[in-house]
Amino acid sequence: MRVFVLTGAGISAESGIPTFRGKDGYWRNLDPTKLATPEAFARDPQLVWDWYRERRQRIRNARPNAGHEAIARLAHHADEFLLVTQNVDDLHARAGILAEKMVQIHGDIFVTRCSRCDFAEKGSGGSPEPPTTRAVQPQSGRLGAIAPTSEDHCNLPGCPECAAFMRPGVVWFGEQLPWNELQRVESYLDRGACDVVIVAGTTATFGYIIDWALRGSRDGVELIEVNPEETPLSRFATRLVREPAAIALPRIVDELINRGAL
Ligand code: APR
Repeated sequence: MRVFVLTGAGISAESGIPTFRGKDGYWRNLDPTKLATPEAFARDPQLVWDWYRERRQRIRNARPNAGHEAIARLAHHADEFLLVTQNVDDLHARAGILAEKMVQIHGDIFVTRCSRCDFAEKGSGGSPEPPTTRAVQPQSGRLGAIAPTSEDHCNLPGCPECAAFMRPGVVWFGEQLPWNELQRVESYLDRGACDVVIVAGTTATFGYIIDWALRGSRDGVELIEVNPEETPLSRFATRLVREPAAIALPRIVDELINRGAL
């Protein structure tokens, strides 16, 4: 059986991770969609880093829920499987999904990369924050212009290669999706229709999410939407499950496994 799964923030909600557009999404009364932008980082890198550090800590303290675990079980049973998640947390991975079966299309919050050169480092749920001993030091000329005064930005990680600011390895609004990850999704979908497509916990805000769900479920394949609320994808779904993911997904996966389809 060939399975394709798309997830969003809703699947991590029951692990205590706020969604983006849910009532719990605001941080310090700031709209997350206003913080997750290159402009916000240029304007106030300290504020953006504070937000991401708090989110990293909240994710470290969180645990995968029954929804994450059900998808890991599905991955284990399916002949072919790909999970595309918009989530930058590591709960799918901690639930046991292998990297080769998952695409984090909006990046990974535990990656820290340079805002200018290609330097990047990968932490993990357990890893402490990157050392700020490499805080950006004020320099003259152009770098001086962007390099903060050490008083203000003394705990912002600086790039060991080019001394520019380091930033979280996530895709911000207005930024391109990671090319290699895109190719992985495209080649999986180009290899033929799936037998079942599950979309869980997303508002399907972005056109590519809807496009991938429809391409994966072409030729009348089952498209199951798991979401307490309606989304733009609902009208295309062959089955609507208006329940929380941690409740619905274990049952749906059991059903697929018992159907002997897997
Ligand atoms: N189980 C299933 N779905 C849930 C649950 C739950 N327990 N709780 C909430 N939801 C649903 C909500 O009804 C909503 O449709 O999850 C969805 C969360 O939507 P968003 O907050 O918009 O998150 P997402 O769809 O992942 O956002 C997409 O937008 O902000 C950017 O880059 C960010 O990856 C994010 C992307």
